[in-house]
Amino acid sequence: MFKKTSTSSGYRDPEVLVGLDLGTSKVTVVVAERDGPSGEAQIIGIGQSPSHGIRKGLIVHLDQAVRSVRQAVSDAENMVGLELTDATVSFSGGDVQSVRSKGLITLGRSPRTVMQLDVGRVIESAQANVAVPANQMILHTIPVEYSLDGNSGIDDPLGMTGMRLDIDLESVIVPLATVQNVYNCVDRAGLNVTGFVIKPLASALGAITPEEGMAGVAIVDIGGGTCGVAVFAESRPKHLAVLSVGGDHITNDVASVLKIPIGKAEELKREVDLFADDSQNLSERLEFDHNGRNYSYSLIELTEIVQCRVDELFASLVRGEMGNAGVAMLPAGIVLTGGVSRSAGIDQYLSRTMDMPVRVAPPIDSNRMPPGRNGPEYTCASGIIRYALEQERDPFRYIEQPLDQLKIVRTPGISGGIKPGRRSDADGGGEPRVSGGSIIQSIKDVLKELF
Ligand SMILES: Nc1ncnc2c1ncn2[C@@H]1O[C@H](COP(=O)(O)OP(=O)(O)OP(=O)(O)O)[C@@H](O)[C@H]1O
Ligand SMILES: [Mg+2]
Repeated sequence: MFKKTSTSSGYRDPEVLVGLDLGTSKVTVVVAERDGPSGEAQIIGIGQSPSHGIRKGLIVHLDQAVRSVRQAVSDAENMVGLELTDATVSFSGGDVQSVRSKGLITLGRSPRTVMQLDVGRVIESAQANVAVPANQMILHTIPVEYSLDGNSGIDDPLGMTGMRLDIDLESVIVPLATVQNVYNCVDRAGLNVTGFVIKPLASALGAITPEEGMAGVAIVDIGGGTCGVAVFAESRPKHLAVLSVGGDHITNDVASVLKIPIGKAEELKREVDLFADDSQNLSERLEFDHNGRNYSYSLIELTEIVQCRVDELFASLVRGEMGNAGVAMLPAGIVLTGGVSRSAGIDQYLSRTMDMPVRVAPPIDSNRMPPGRNGPEYTCASGIIRYALEQERDPFRYIEQPLDQLKIVRTPGISGGIKPGRRSDADGGGEPRVSGGSIIQSIKDVLKELF
């Protein structure tokens, strides 16, 4: 299940993991190397390129997006000195739904030990209760909580004894077309897709400490075109959502209200202290020349535009998603990440308006990441590696649908035709991981790979 790379000589190195984050502002490729057989992974390189052909997290121009991915891959390859062939891909955008369902199985008339196949069966029973529209598919299956003989709060029922096993399951449902477009894009860029992870899940895994995840926390990743929300409690994701609002909307608001070019609006947004509290002099004037014209505004005009958008995002949308998680309390508050979290003072501002603790989070692995590429806009990318490791450590935590079940169509003539020599049948590239037809089968496959 490791995402493999090969050197130019064709040698495959199973100790290397690759994550690809398809962002609206930038495409990021993160490469990690395992420390040892049981171990953690050390990030050894991060490549990136500006995104083209991706809007609000969705691919809107395939060729441009393919070029951006190739450029980011090549940047990463130059950094680590390996040819990358496979990747786990994070994406968002479109209509992402996080749906809760329940399932149960009886273990027998007298108590007995819960086996791996029982866990697979109870997961399938809950999944059977999820209605998936024909044009959508389940991307993630996430056990949220188990109960044994009515005792709730069981984190891992394996090896425990009982007669009846219940489960609360979270299923992340996404449009088929969105996933197919992402697959085509990455495939045409010359990489084998070995798995997908929805962005808010990767961002959460990349940002929070185990204590925050246990206590209850909302992770909010605000990028260029999207805002990913993940609510964690008891170390499990309770709800995942993608909102189609990001930093680019703030820039557009500033440009259209102040009637200035987008580039200048972006510059102001980054340079001005937009979340100054009342104690600061908001009547100060901002004056600048642009293309021979003189502009003059009070700081308060600018801050109002930005704060209005941020208030709308948090007070209604983010708060709504936090409510959808059904978690009574979030003692660890909000962990804010993504490029927009770089705005000076946004944490104190949100802490006041949302009335809860707010922390701006660089990646939890930032000290293992290259300087200049370890800020909050890289949290999602670094989280992909944590996701892949977590999946390996515990195959029941984040159950990935085998790619063949995702109904992905491999179009002859597209795959591998763009970057000749990158993959060949000899090195096993080109085929998605194929498993049998069920959750149980997919778990068996994962276990087979592990042992
Ligand atoms: N110093 C800063 N102050 C304010 N905003 C910033 C700053 N630096 C970057 N941004 C904003 O962050 C956004 C880009 O964030 P990020 O790199 O996380 O996006 P992305 O991951 O490519 O997009 P997405 O996740 O939405 O698909 C842009 O809107 C940019 O203007
Ligand atoms: Mg992002």
